[in-house]
Amino acid sequence: MAKILGSITTSHIPLIGKAIARNLRGEPYWKPFFDGFGPVHEWLARVKPDVAVVFYNDHGLNFFLDKLPTFAVGAAPKYGTADEGWGIPALTHFRGDPDLSWHLIEALVAEGFDVATCQEMLVDHGFTIPMALLWPGGGDWPVKVVPVELNTVQHPLPSPARCLKLGRAVGHALESYDEDLKVVIVGTGGLSHQLDGTRAGFINREFDLMCLDKIVGEPEAVARYTILEIVEHAGAQGVELINWIAARGALNGRVAKLHSNYHVPISNTATGLLLLENRG
Ligand code: DHB
Ligand code: FE
Repeated sequence: MAKILGSITTSHIPLIGKAIARNLRGEPYWKPFFDGFGPVHEWLARVKPDVAVVFYNDHGLNFFLDKLPTFAVGAAPKYGTADEGWGIPALTHFRGDPDLSWHLIEALVAEGFDVATCQEMLVDHGFTIPMALLWPGGGDWPVKVVPVELNTVQHPLPSPARCLKLGRAVGHALESYDEDLKVVIVGTGGLSHQLDGTRAGFINREFDLMCLDKIVGEPEAVARYTILEIVEHAGAQGVELINWIAARGALNGRVAKLHSNYHVPISNTATGLLLLENRG
């Protein structure tokens, strides 16, 4: 049976891609951020996942405002990347796992999550930056991937409570997958940030630290907020927190917090990192 090893949740700011491409990891601006990933790399090297199920949000590369699903699951044999206009390098493609994708899709639809299914899909910085952070060196990704995409772009957005349930359904579906696969859950985006409007640059350390703490043992306490309350507390783009909530939901049993990091700011965003191990 498939085994869920744990979850890694991290911010996905495009500027990180530039810092990686220009090898700026050791610069004073970047060091406190990149140093946060040491324990994550050690853990990944030890547990060696086969597949990453990645909860993330597209920002206009694969989906645009004309057609925008609330939830979408990739079912492609491979996922390309592209120039999104942020000046970050397009990475080599990611290998998919269509059998696992269809297993997840079947289970999700059976549980009432009417997801869009994507047999072709480009993944944007919301996906590629975290992958490059988790597996530096680039190119030859050691895991296959299943992208699970949540709408954070065009309102109405799915409620945090619904996203927690989505994550739980993904977790149950993985546990019933009849193949000896080791799965890592990834969630991307957040924490507080707002890129436009009169509150551009808004960051809320207190709210972020509360979420980083509560999401470990009491994810319902974070998932009880409405989308509008999250906008108020975490900024318009802080709603990317729903990817963290879904990722946490996929770990259905007991969890141990192995590592976290919080660093403000990178670009306009408060960055968060959390590594949870699944203890069944
Ligand atoms: C930034 C943050 C994001 O989450 C994003 O998708 C794009 C840009 C930023 O802070 O620059
Ligand atoms: Fe984003």
